[in-house]
Amino acid sequence: MAEEQQAQLLDGKTLAADIRADLTQRVAKRLAGGGSQPGLATVLVGEDAASQVYVRSKHRACQDAGMVSFGIELPADASQAEVLAEVRRLNADPQVHGILVQLPLPAHLDEAAVIQTIDPLKDVDGLHPENTGLLAQKGRQPRFVPATPLGVMRLLAEAGTPIAGANAVVLGRSNIVGVPVALLLLRANATVTLAHSRTRDLDALCRSADILVAAVGRAEMVRGDWVKRDAVVIDVGINRVDDAEAKRGYRLVGDVASDEVVGHAAAITPVPGGVGPMTIAMLLENTLKAAELQD
Ligand code: GUN
Repeated sequence: MAEEQQAQLLDGKTLAADIRADLTQRVAKRLAGGGSQPGLATVLVGEDAASQVYVRSKHRACQDAGMVSFGIELPADASQAEVLAEVRRLNADPQVHGILVQLPLPAHLDEAAVIQTIDPLKDVDGLHPENTGLLAQKGRQPRFVPATPLGVMRLLAEAGTPIAGANAVVLGRSNIVGVPVALLLLRANATVTLAHSRTRDLDALCRSADILVAAVGRAEMVRGDWVKRDAVVIDVGINRVDDAEAKRGYRLVGDVASDEVVGHAAAITPVPGGVGPMTIAMLLENTLKAAELQD
């Protein structure tokens, strides 16, 4: 019987706080040197409660770091032309260095067309095809990379995880997490498998992973016996599950059944307090980078 070990918990909350403190100093130095105050604009269409919470926390984080933020709110029935006009106005505003259109957009809007209208130099979400292309092509320097994938890589670095030559399995192929995480791991010389809802023998595939990144949005889908001994597990999922004993009537769980994994993985991110806080820190970093690019 193999000896029990306890996985290292990768504390994104503390790491994100350190990064934000460092960014606050860099912003102060920029201002003291006569530089402009980095500015982030968010565009929120409709009244989705979760999106409102995310956007509010992005604004608060900007203020904490000495950056300025602009919150654009449009009604749920805003037309495509109205949304595009707002994005173009922000493209032209010199106080706005970064633009983030909160996703998902209401179904009647053409998300790809909206994202493509953002000035690629202000695309702090890293979703414009020009920025995706720079990330995807060998021999190019990426400009903006989506915040959550950047956070995943920082957490792996913090854990001291060797990436070159490792087998990395990424679950989920979204534009904002799965695909850019896979590209970043590839750039770091991992052998990457990008798995998704049509992947066969998912559990066996996961068992081959030295690094497992779960970003599918399904509560505790990854079970303990899907994770090999000494694997590093990054859990991007934040799922609500009903819990009558919890104060709010629900609790947050990841895409990984962490209780079943902590006894044999090398390291795992907690939910909450793992990847989540890193996303905001990386968005702020991208916003400062945008201001620097536009000097
Ligand atoms: N919706 C959920 N996460 C994100 C994000 O990181 N950026 C944007 N634009 N929308 C989101």
